[in-house]
Amino acid sequence: MVAISRVKESVRTPAEKAPEPNLGSEVIPKQRYTSTDFMNLEWERMWTKVWLVGCREDEIPEPGDNATTEIGTESLLIVRGEDGRARTFYNVCNHRGNQVKFDQCGNSRTLQCAYHFWEYDLTGKLINVPDEEDFAQGCPRDKLSLKQVETDSWGGWVWFNLNPDAEPLRDFLGMIPQHLDPYHFADMALTMNVTVESDCNWKTSVDAFNEVYHVQCIHPELSYTIDDVDVQIDLYDRHNRYLVPYHTYSPRLGEEPYEVPEILANALQAVGMNPDQYTGRVTEIRRALQVYKRESQQKRGVDYSELNDDQLTDNYHYFIFPNLTLNTFSDRMMLFRQRPHASDPNKMYYDVTVHVRVPKGQKRPPMPDHEHVAFGQRSLGLVLDQDAVNLPHVQKGMNSSAFEGLWISSQERRIRHMHKTLMDYIDGEGAGRV
Ligand code: FES
Ligand SMILES: [Fe+2]
Repeated sequence: MVAISRVKESVRTPAEKAPEPNLGSEVIPKQRYTSTDFMNLEWERMWTKVWLVGCREDEIPEPGDNATTEIGTESLLIVRGEDGRARTFYNVCNHRGNQVKFDQCGNSRTLQCAYHFWEYDLTGKLINVPDEEDFAQGCPRDKLSLKQVETDSWGGWVWFNLNPDAEPLRDFLGMIPQHLDPYHFADMALTMNVTVESDCNWKTSVDAFNEVYHVQCIHPELSYTIDDVDVQIDLYDRHNRYLVPYHTYSPRLGEEPYEVPEILANALQAVGMNPDQYTGRVTEIRRALQVYKRESQQKRGVDYSELNDDQLTDNYHYFIFPNLTLNTFSDRMMLFRQRPHASDPNKMYYDVTVHVRVPKGQKRPPMPDHEHVAFGQRSLGLVLDQDAVNLPHVQKGMNSSAFEGLWISSQERRIRHMHKTLMDYIDGEGAGRV
């Protein structure tokens, strides 16, 4: 049996419980979810001050590759330059305001606006204006080139920040790279990329993934694969996590299932174990999986040397403020991203992406198309569909005059922590944040 001590100490994800901050027990005002005024405050003081994921690095691998991303009222254009650097620009032509690119992604040697053919190079510099002599005021390049925003990368994503005085990305991320670099997200391949327009505030959706209190109610099937009770919650400076034991059963069931539940049998099969030959108890499946995965890693072409045993079965579930939820497993990671609507606090865009570890010797899967769908148009799988169906009703309920705010339990305290960070931005507290 390979022990946890074999994990490289220098790069391991800390599993220790973080000290608990005192976040109080106040009601969280519902206006933060429903009010246009609060939405505008969020835009001015938070969304335009934080680092946000723009796209995957491998969506724009070559010079001239470009991608667009929308956040609130803005569209951003991310471009790979001849020097290999990714740069992010406001996606707006400084002639009459047309968007420089309409498509989700593309490749071009220059960035030419389709309206009157003003042309910018890959560094955003205005390089050609048809009939330039016709502009009596001239066309000064320093004023009319594309407006660039702060750009950096981590985890295989291009990040941008609309604040010209932004703190460095690494400072914003804090403990995140130390915790998550052992998973090597940058080497993972994107296999699913779907955006759903949803009828709820962006936080209504974020909250649904920051607590397991609802699992017993909305996702009864998960009781046969998740321990939703023994969940370690860690609240850090801005970001937080919980560690959810997977490939086991919920203590809420009362007693250990006698037969291996189908969902766990499938998990055994997925790594090459034969569930029909498994003779142990259901409660021992999680450990058996850990041992098997550790021992078979070479045969399976994967390297778990930077992950501890629990990471081979469990969901190390991280929330990177304000809008990234990472369901992190040893072989795959599912990322949720919520983006605010431009004008309606009761709407948002919900991005679901799946990233997989590619075993050595196996071909990297092709980049999937980015699907944009209306709510309910496409299934995201049973569990995410169960969450999605519920959320517009939560949003509608929060708009009722009878509802005051969120009455939060201890097991839901990641929600309270997210609000603490949010209000630090809104109130202007916290050095380097606003
Ligand atoms: S608006 Fe872009 S060239 Fe006129
Ligand atoms: Fe859920």
